[in-house]
Amino acid sequence: MNFKEKIRVVMDFPEPGIRFKDITTLLKDGEAFQAAINQLAGSFKDQQIDLVVGPEARGFAVGAPVAYALGAGFIPVRKPGKLPAETIRHQYSLEYGHDALEVHKDAILPGQRVLIVDDLLATGGTTLATIALIEELGGEVAGITFMIELSYLQGRERLAGYNVVSLVSY
Ligand code: PRP
Repeated sequence: MNFKEKIRVVMDFPEPGIRFKDITTLLKDGEAFQAAINQLAGSFKDQQIDLVVGPEARGFAVGAPVAYALGAGFIPVRKPGKLPAETIRHQYSLEYGHDALEVHKDAILPGQRVLIVDDLLATGGTTLATIALIEELGGEVAGITFMIELSYLQGRERLAGYNVVSLVSY
């Protein structure tokens, strides 16, 4: 399957000069969605994954079906103030300012093998914050997978030492 054909590129969103990769066109195509999830999950089927962690919000749409395909649990990582029980937080830098992500403190047990799933790898900031949360809880990051990798932003270099797999690369 040519997944790139299914991903819409929107010019000048969210700001001039950005060519936004829109996965909603892939997600609405049942055959493409199923093939993409099967391929993402297939790369990790022999990795004894206990849990899939998906960062808000598009990481939910991709991560939850990958978890289901692997027979693993799903853990949401969310923007501050969204999760109801006790959380830990990791703050990280953006191009302009800061952002933070949270996970429930009891979401991951020490030694559990975790796969991080998100729609897109850009700078890697979201993934690094997600790794920090998982490792603070004692989880082992067994792999990281994306539908899309923007290779010119060199996020993969920031994730050196981890097993990173992406479906398509720009
Ligand atoms: C996007 C995308 C990744 C992240 C990638 O999420 O879904 O999570 O940015 O960028 P990075 O590699 O530079 O961190 P966004 O923060 O736009 O949130 P959303 O999914 O809620 O729209």
